[in-house]
Amino acid sequence: QRDKDADAQSKDDADAQESWLVIRQAWCVCVDAQGIIIHVGPLAEAGEIVNGAQKVIRLEKHQMLCPGFIDTHIHAPQYSYTGTATDKPLMSWLQDYTFPAEKALQDVEKAAEVYERIVARTLRCGTTTAMYFGTLHNASSQVLADTCFRLGQRALVGKVSMDRNGQQGYQEADTKSALQDAENFVRNLKQSQAGKAGMALPVLTPRFIPTCTPELLRGLGDLARQYDCNVQSHISESLDEVEFSAALHPGEGSDAILFDAAGLLRKGAVMAHGVHMSDADFALLKARGAAIAHCPLSNFFFAHGYLPVAKLLKQGVLMGLGTDVAGGYSPSMFNAMRSAVLASKAGAIQARTAHLDGDHIIDYRHAFFLATLGGAQALDIDDKVGKLQVGMQFDALILDADAPGTNIDVFPRDSIEDVFQKLCTLGDDRNVIRVFTPVLLQAYMQKRAKLETET
Ligand code: GUN
Ligand code: FE
Repeated sequence: QRDKDADAQSKDDADAQESWLVIRQAWCVCVDAQGIIIHVGPLAEAGEIVNGAQKVIRLEKHQMLCPGFIDTHIHAPQYSYTGTATDKPLMSWLQDYTFPAEKALQDVEKAAEVYERIVARTLRCGTTTAMYFGTLHNASSQVLADTCFRLGQRALVGKVSMDRNGQQGYQEADTKSALQDAENFVRNLKQSQAGKAGMALPVLTPRFIPTCTPELLRGLGDLARQYDCNVQSHISESLDEVEFSAALHPGEGSDAILFDAAGLLRKGAVMAHGVHMSDADFALLKARGAAIAHCPLSNFFFAHGYLPVAKLLKQGVLMGLGTDVAGGYSPSMFNAMRSAVLASKAGAIQARTAHLDGDHIIDYRHAFFLATLGGAQALDIDDKVGKLQVGMQFDALILDADAPGTNIDVFPRDSIEDVFQKLCTLGDDRNVIRVFTPVLLQAYMQKRAKLETET
């Protein structure tokens, strides 16, 4: 794993790349009953712990243990139409597909069905943590957090706030009640089982500048400070969005400036896209400790541009990776990783005339970093997850490059790095053979114990 301390950043490229991946044979990771990692290192040094272990899982050849994927931007209610609605620019896409689909999930039973499916699906794809947009509705959005907890996924969940430019039946009644609902959502989630278990965090979620009055944004900024909450929104995503923002706020500056004026750019604030942000906007984000959720697949459809990821990584802007379902059609972080690499290639092709290639190209290692530790840093939970290290929670995947019926062929002379690159480039849910969070670990141990008493 790449360790993004100040040191690593000042190293030159080749050097930094060396330090990104640590893949060793005959290593082991030991975890206590609460799902906290208590040893990482050579098997030979773990002696006592391994001897006393309740359960030992030995990895087969071509299997690897890696940190769980962290999806920093995904819309749970939009899962019902994922894979369709790929034919419109952002503003009409929202009106024609998104708002009607989200409005329908006021019905808690319908919400429960969609949420059960997306959480099961993303877990199967290896997403152990997701930062979700819910809908306007408090009760349905709480169902999302409860579903994540029940199925064992770590989640940051937002009830969406929007008090202008929605549509009939899908907009808050007024700003005051919007703020009251947002506050109630935060309080209730913290008090819920999922919140108390530390598996779900509430997120203040102004949809984006065009659907939020300045009063609403300021009120949400105050709540973020008061409750020390994560924030999520969309920022400078596409040309039609940037135009709409500017028409509503002539001469007032960019989305970043408007969010900052409301106190919404802070540590743990995750702003999706940022394709049309200026260098000054990025500097502002960095100064505030806010992060970008890079959503490469949906950017291909909506953004009219690309994010210079390599440049931003060099500048130390916090960044994670997002699937942006359903603007992005795939809920899989494997696909998000690949799309990020492809988007960087597209950026480099376009920038060639400007000789900016070096600012653009990223490879599977950057993508893997963004999908794990980068995401944890963006969400401000890197003290808990994002890498396999003593003291961290055991959010982890067993990947198998040689699982039957997948897209990967492993050859005898493949190095361990080759196998890992093949997983990043060609892997999918069939290569994810086990998913752990502390909740899933407990379920796994109970199942094992039951099986063993039965036999
Ligand atoms: N901007 C405002 N809402 C949305 C949304 O649901 N998806 C995307 N991609 N952009 C948005
Ligand atoms: Fe989005």
